[in-house]
Amino acid sequence: MLTGSRTLLLLGWLFLPLMTSAQPPDSQCQECHGQPQLAKTDSSGGKISLFIDVESHRQSVHAEIGCTFCHRELARVTQWPHPPEKNPVDCASCHALEGRELAQSSHAELVRSDRPAGPACVACHGYHGVKASDDPTSRTHRRNINAACLSCHADQEVHAGSGVIVKAYQKSVHGRMMQEGQTSVAECVDCHGSHHILPADDPDSPVHKPQIPHTCGQCHAQVVEDYRTSIHGQELAKGVTDSPVCTDCHGEHTIEAPDMASSRVAPANVPETCGKCHGNVQLTDKYGLSADRFATYKDSYHGVANHYGRTLVANCASCHGFHKVLPPSDPASTIHPANLAHTCGRCHPNAGEKFTEGKMHVAATFENSPGVFIVRQFYYIFIGGLMVIFVAYIVIEQTGSARRRRERKGR
Ligand code: HEC
Ligand code: HEC
Ligand code: HEC
Ligand code: HEC
Ligand code: HEC
Ligand code: HEC
Ligand code: HEC
Ligand code: HEC
Ligand code: HEC
Ligand code: HEC
Ligand code: HEC
Repeated sequence: MLTGSRTLLLLGWLFLPLMTSAQPPDSQCQECHGQPQLAKTDSSGGKISLFIDVESHRQSVHAEIGCTFCHRELARVTQWPHPPEKNPVDCASCHALEGRELAQSSHAELVRSDRPAGPACVACHGYHGVKASDDPTSRTHRRNINAACLSCHADQEVHAGSGVIVKAYQKSVHGRMMQEGQTSVAECVDCHGSHHILPADDPDSPVHKPQIPHTCGQCHAQVVEDYRTSIHGQELAKGVTDSPVCTDCHGEHTIEAPDMASSRVAPANVPETCGKCHGNVQLTDKYGLSADRFATYKDSYHGVANHYGRTLVANCASCHGFHKVLPPSDPASTIHPANLAHTCGRCHPNAGEKFTEGKMHVAATFENSPGVFIVRQFYYIFIGGLMVIFVAYIVIEQTGSARRRRERKGR
């Protein structure tokens, strides 16, 4: 497909042979730069090789481009050896589109500033051996690009603070599968883009919160379809950014399969993941929800068993679902009264109407569950009383036996 910029590039390409005649041929450069020992000394006295491997140049996308099309300053040189280059090669002089995108991205700030690590084009593509990104040996091929990004982002000096977070990608489900050679999984560029990379708080960034379902949806289309129908998805579409998107439940660079114990969506961790919001009073107040869903779940039979590692018991997602969560009032909800027998029945085969009658996880007050409330109060008093009597009994028994011992000694 010929995009606008590519057409221009190709047009320029047609005129290349005409222009070449006026410039020194590559063979001239090679006379000196083809010598392996050619080197210069840098300011600290070290040697920098100036040897250019023509073979690598010939195998690159720029094979047909003469040296001086990039090294423009040297195009009009007549004296050899030539004076040093004052300005570095500007890739964007031919690749204007990528140049513009980079100039508007997070990385542009660095190109302009004097920080040495600024990723100009060469940081990702290299320069003499540039290959098209669909070539598996290219530095920008799906298989290799993560390494290029991590060469800076795992480095705390370059990216203070988040280096560790980003590095975690390699251990995530996507990162591990990529290392195993499955290149259809997400790499840095699938989520962040390549030239137009922006911080997460920029609305145009693919990792800006409201954009995330779309970004993950490039590959997880079915999940996103389900998510969009859920209360969380519906609310997000209305602009409620307190509503969770994929990364609130799964993480970003730490995404794991649900069957990994360390996953945020593993059965043992789901209550914490949902509870982060549903146990947060400020948030639940704002949306008129009860704040004690997390606490009451933890107190429930299921909650206690889950806490002690019995992951077969129900967690939030077993009853509510995870991508299709709906309020109890919605007839399609797994926790709509008409569907409860079926929902509990997945694990309690004999669950009938009676089984699901009680309120599921609410704090037992006299108003909403008088039965539970009274029984619970009775047990608090009964067990409390029992403990007091028990302690009193031990004290009396101990002092009694001590007295008897003294009396025996006295005799
Ligand atoms: C007569 C030998 C000779 C020829 C011919 C020659 N160069 Fe050089 N080139 C050198 C030397 C020597 C240096 C190192 C100068 C210095 O110490 O800064 C150099 C430096 C360079 C540098 C800068 C490297 C740096 O890091 O400073 C570039 C780029 C370069 N040459 C490109 C070319 C190109 C393109 C051609 C062909 C048009 C060419 N040279 C032809 C000898 C030559
Ligand atoms: C696609 C553009 C492009 C082409 C074509 C190209 N160069 Fe370069 N060259 C660069 C860039 C970019 C640098 C790195 C400059 C920098 O670090 O600022 C570079 C660096 C160099 C250096 C410095 C040593 C080094 O390896 O860093 C020399 C010498 C050099 N080029 C010679 C050549 C010669 C000879 C040819 C032709 C065979 C050639 N270049 C073709 C883009 C190009
Ligand atoms: C003199 C113009 C010119 C300069 C300067 C230039 N390129 Fe290119 N570049 C081209 C041409 C022409 C092609 C081949 C286009 C094609 O085959 O569709 C190309 C191809 C590419 C491709 C592969 C494109 C594809 O669709 O397969 C990449 C990547 C690339 N260049 C990166 C760079 C980088 C990085 C630099 C700077 C180091 C650079 N270019 C400098 C002209 C240039
Ligand atoms: C942060 C890394 C990064 C930087 C910086 C970067 N690129 Fe790229 N570039 C990529 C990746 C990854 C791809 C392939 C994926 C895509 O097409 O988005 C790509 C694709 C391209 C392509 C399309 C051809 C191809 O190989 O698919 C061209 C041309 C290109 N880059 C040129 C440039 C130029 C010119 C610059 C500097 C202005 C630059 N890039 C800066 C990572 C980068
Ligand atoms: C040459 C080093 C280098 C390379 C290579 C590089 N980056 Fe960066 N990147 C940086 C630096 C430095 C920043 C700015 C950090 C800052 O301002 O704190 C940055 C910023 C970012 C940001 C924005 C962070 C923010 O909150 O503003 C993202 C996202 C990002 N890079 C992703 C990538 C991806 C994806 C790749 C690979 C395609 C990549 N980077 C390649 C050095 C690099
Ligand atoms: C599955 C999608 C995904 C992949 C793959 C991914 N990221 Fe991210 N990344 C995100 C999201 C989402 C955020 C935004 C987090 C937030 O809201 O602060 C983010 C944030 C970042 C930030 C900004 C951190 C900050 O403190 O501002 C950087 C830098 C970054 N990622 C780099 C990378 C690099 C490098 C890779 C590849 C090794 C990568 N990411 C892979 C989704 C991804
Ligand atoms: C470029 C495609 C791509 C993108 C983008 C992507 N993923 Fe994935 N993801 C995959 C592939 C492929 C797998 C492994 C196959 C599978 O299990 O579906 C996977 C696996 C997963 C798994 C583990 C599934 C399991 O059952 O083991 C989760 C969870 C996941 N991705 C979540 C996300 C989230 C959240 C996002 C967005 C932040 C995202 N993915 C973005 C391709 C992608
Ligand atoms: C409210 C929390 C939550 C949100 C939001 C969420 N997920 Fe999930 N997701 C889960 C839970 C919990 C599981 C584990 C279910 C299980 O145990 O099988 C899961 C499982 C998965 C799986 C693996 C199993 C499957 O169904 O394929 C993928 C892939 C996945 N999620 C991707 C996504 C994507 C993409 C998004 C955003 C559109 C998203 N999730 C949004 C909680 C969530
Ligand atoms: C990032 C915060 C967040 C996370 C994480 C989260 N939720 Fe929510 N949830 C909300 C918000 C905000 C609403 C509703 C807002 C509204 O009604 O406008 C909501 C609504 C709900 C509702 C509907 C309540 C009603 O009656 O309207 C249920 C049920 C629910 N969530 C269950 C879950 C479950 C189960 C999980 C974990 C798998 C979960 N949520 C994870 C924020 C979150
Ligand atoms: C055993 C099944 C079950 C489990 C486990 C469960 N819930 Fe519920 N949940 C229900 C039922 C049934 C309802 C609706 C009837 C009711 O209010 O008791 C409900 C209601 C809700 C509501 C609606 C709140 C409102 O005020 O409208 C939210 C939010 C909620 N649960 C969140 C959670 C969270 C978070 C967890 C995990 C910490 C969880 N649930 C665990 C069955 C369950
Ligand atoms: C994911 C499976 C699962 C789901 C769904 C589930 N439970 Fe359970 N539940 C269990 C397991 C496992 C036990 C422990 C049984 C045991 O120890 O014998 C349990 C125990 C219980 C207990 C206490 C012990 C008992 O057997 O009386 C009650 C009450 C209970 N569940 C009610 C419910 C209700 C009501 C629902 C639906 C709203 C429900 N459960 C949904 C798995 C589940």
